[in-house]
Amino acid sequence: MPIAPKNVLVTGAAGFIGSHLCDRLISDGHNVIGLDNLSTGHIDNLPSNFDLCVSDIRDDELKVVIADLRPDLVFHLAAQISVSVSAREPEFDADVNIKGSLNLLEGLRSAGLNQTKLVYVTSGGTAYGAPEILPATEITPVRPLSPYGVSKLVVEQYLPVYEKLAGISYAIVRLANIYGPRQDPHGEAGVVAIFSRAMLNKSSMQIFGDGTDERDYVYVSDVVDAVVKVGDSDLTGPYNVGTGFGTSTNRIFEELANRTEHSEAAVHGPARLGDIKKIALDSSKAKRELGWEPKISLEEGLKRTVEWFEKNP
Ligand SMILES: NC(=O)c1ccc[n+]([C@@H]2O[C@H](COP(=O)([O-])OP(=O)(O)OC[C@H]3O[C@@H](n4cnc5c(N)ncnc54)[C@H](O)[C@@H]3O)[C@@H](O)[C@H]2O)c1
Repeated sequence: MPIAPKNVLVTGAAGFIGSHLCDRLISDGHNVIGLDNLSTGHIDNLPSNFDLCVSDIRDDELKVVIADLRPDLVFHLAAQISVSVSAREPEFDADVNIKGSLNLLEGLRSAGLNQTKLVYVTSGGTAYGAPEILPATEITPVRPLSPYGVSKLVVEQYLPVYEKLAGISYAIVRLANIYGPRQDPHGEAGVVAIFSRAMLNKSSMQIFGDGTDERDYVYVSDVVDAVVKVGDSDLTGPYNVGTGFGTSTNRIFEELANRTEHSEAAVHGPARLGDIKKIALDSSKAKRELGWEPKISLEEGLKRTVEWFEKNP
């Protein structure tokens, strides 16, 4: 059944996940406006005629954009996303992730948008810390181990409060580790992008720690599917978006080395502050309530990602 076109605001639109989400929303026929300060996002990730406001989520301009557009739906993805930056500069991390999100909520409140739904995209990979039982479900206690994990989680707690204060309905999507085309290989996160690019360029790279740490890798198109399903529903959340199993950094290295014909052995460096040992997310709730489950296997996703980096050096 065709979906009625909506006015949609996407923060972090020029980023890795945000740009794929915008492509999908546009092809679904929605009127999409993005906001991004281009700190890690790139204008080239977006279609040439895309309506992007280059601005910071902490600025008053966000409130003007909200008042003008009066969005039916807001996807909030703009964030400081690096765990290690958050460990070095926790005040900066909190400023962007908490204060920026509050500025968005206040923008919705001051525009009186009590019919708007806000979908908050956050990190299941850091919210649960290092749980004893894996994969983590939505009722696993949240015990983040990094300032980034805390700042992303704090915003989750404001959402029911703003629903009471201003009638803003919301849903929370807790993502595992996402990979795919357009992920920034220059950042400190996104091991698939960093290794793919370094292997193809024959430049140096290192594995932090012994490489036995495990993450739950989900291909970006599957994530977009989940986020759109949440936005289209009346459900609130939180919803985990993961595959339910972890893959070690060593295995990612080996798979990518095979695909790129990289023959040098991995170089190991010291483990990073704030990184966790193992995480995987149980998404049974998303399957049950949204009919979502990941479709792209790790092998297929890595193949597509390497092909994209080959074409986009
Ligand atoms: N990639 C992952 O594995 C992953 C996992 C869990 C959660 N998430 C969440 O998904 C969202 C998107 O992450 P991503 O991987 O696409 O990262 P990204 O860095 O590519 O995207 C973030 C975007 O936000 C923009 N941005 C940053 N600070 C801003 C500010 N102050 N004002 C306006 N724009 C700002 C950046 O320029 C960038 O375009 C984030 O909220 C992140 O916490 C990502």
